[in-house]
Amino acid sequence: MASFPKHRPRRLRRTAALRRLVRETRLSPDQFILPLFVRSGKGIRNPIASMPGVAQSSVDELLADAREAVSLGIGGILLFGIPDTKDARGSSAWDDKGPVQEAVRAVKAECPALVVITDVCLCEYTDHGHCGVIKDGEVDNDATLELLAREAVSHAKAGADVVAPSDMMDGRVAAIRAALDGKGFQNTPILSYAAKFAGAFYGPFREAAESTPQFGDRRGYQLNAANGEEAMREVWTDIDEGADMVMVKPAGPFLDVIHRVKSETGYPVAAYQVSSEYAMIQAASERGWVDGDRAIMESLLGIRRAGADVIITYFARRAATLLKQGWDA
Ligand code: PBG
Repeated sequence: MASFPKHRPRRLRRTAALRRLVRETRLSPDQFILPLFVRSGKGIRNPIASMPGVAQSSVDELLADAREAVSLGIGGILLFGIPDTKDARGSSAWDDKGPVQEAVRAVKAECPALVVITDVCLCEYTDHGHCGVIKDGEVDNDATLELLAREAVSHAKAGADVVAPSDMMDGRVAAIRAALDGKGFQNTPILSYAAKFAGAFYGPFREAAESTPQFGDRRGYQLNAANGEEAMREVWTDIDEGADMVMVKPAGPFLDVIHRVKSETGYPVAAYQVSSEYAMIQAASERGWVDGDRAIMESLLGIRRAGADVIITYFARRAATLLKQGWDA
């Protein structure tokens, strides 16, 4: 007589050892990228109120973070700069002695094996907080390209392993590729923030990077959260222009886009678990409304399961520590 039920999926879930054996998705610290905020000075660590555990640091302090990342096996860091002075064109962005450039040199000297990625954008450097130059009240796409290219070259000159444009101007990957090649940086890869969506999830970051737009918002250049097809066109355009890796951002609300980008392009895909995704888990965890560690790991697993090869996350240190301790859920 046939036994009922024929399938008992619970058989493989009974013990921790069986569950570990048939686990489909694994997290590894070498796929994590830790974002860090750097400013000039010495001995500075300014905590960000809306991102508990995250700070703006001077280069000396940032070196301690980089060393810790190495000891935890974290794959890389992503650098954002807060300049001493801002102007309409964001000219501090291509200052070879700017905080990002100094940090790149210092980290590459001390931790050569850590991948150092730099965010290429003007919003931290412009006095109006937009990601490009303003003309007639709008961000002027073509006038911005040359400035982004200068910034990318300055980062590459400092020794950045990868440059990551996050501005969402049309044609920026081609402009940056041409500028890098023209200056002898043919071997510097571009990680493009290809599918970057406008919305509510970047608030805490803008406190950390001091990059809140002084008028309007970013919907004139970042993607509409409703548009998955358009996101794919953006990704293909950036790949056509020479992007080596493509990013989807934010991660959690756009897991379908991550999945499509990975399965339809086959390119290396990075996903950015952004500042509000971090802040929400931290805030709920502080209140005892969620088990923070488990929420962190489940959110990262979801992003990996969707197809991301690399995860940019402010939880990189905590997650790497948990994995080191043998985390399994
Ligand atoms: C710069 C940039 C932003 C983020 C990464 N690069 C902010 C923005 O577009 O307003 C957001 C990252 C985060 O929220 O963690 N353009």
